[in-house]
Amino acid sequence: MNPALIDLPEAIETPRLYIRRPLPGDGPVLNASIIETWESLQATMNWAQERPTVEESETRVRHQCAAFMTRTDLPMLVFLSDRRTHVGCTGLHRMDWDVPRFEIGYWVRSSFEGQGYVTETVRALTDFAMGTLGAQRVEIRCSHRNTRSQRVAERCGFTLEGRLRNDAREPDGELRDTLIYAKIAEASRAGAST
Ligand SMILES: CC(C)(COP(=O)(O)OP(=O)(O)OC[C@H]1O[C@@H](n2cnc3c(N)ncnc32)[C@H](O)[C@@H]1OP(=O)(O)O)[C@@H](O)C(=O)NCCC(=O)NCCS
Repeated sequence: MNPALIDLPEAIETPRLYIRRPLPGDGPVLNASIIETWESLQATMNWAQERPTVEESETRVRHQCAAFMTRTDLPMLVFLSDRRTHVGCTGLHRMDWDVPRFEIGYWVRSSFEGQGYVTETVRALTDFAMGTLGAQRVEIRCSHRNTRSQRVAERCGFTLEGRLRNDAREPDGELRDTLIYAKIAEASRAGAST
């Protein structure tokens, strides 16, 4: 099946959240959240090198919109149920549609940290990947130094499968190990001996 032909719902809804694809015009809202969260993003995300302008955020949104349309990446914005208040970003990335397999990424706006929104997002995205997209495997990858992210994976029932030692550099240049957490479709392992 050509992934570009896969129909996807307008949004994923949870008790508190509305999760949808990026759309042209989301740039200012995204930019405000990035600026608010800048110190945390700069410390953890390699793409956060320089504070973006509103125009750069709008450009990013439009590229994400195109990638979502062709199913080469599935970036998403997370809003409260009011559909206006931006909470953070997530998405299904680095996919292999043949498996199918996806990696969930996430960051939360500083003023919404520590309230369980990321956990709620990851649970919903995992259900979406395994239910709607037929995922056999969903991964979360994070630095060994990112304990908050590790707690999200563990709270959502992901299993720590491995540790890639000296796998990458942190934004500050420090070497990091990458922890790989995963969930698999249980039925796919029925009868498997290992
Ligand atoms: C990593 C990151 C996404 C974690 O965000 P978070 O707010 O800790 O995650 P959640 O939204 O799931 O909130 C969980 C916290 O809220 C608390 N909480 C409050 N209400 C809750 C609820 N209803 N459900 C679950 N947890 C709740 C939990 O106890 C937990 O606190 P604790 O970790 O101190 O025990 C965030 O720190 C971040 O954006 N960091 C920068 C970017 C980043 O590192 N991204 C990940 C790269 S791999």
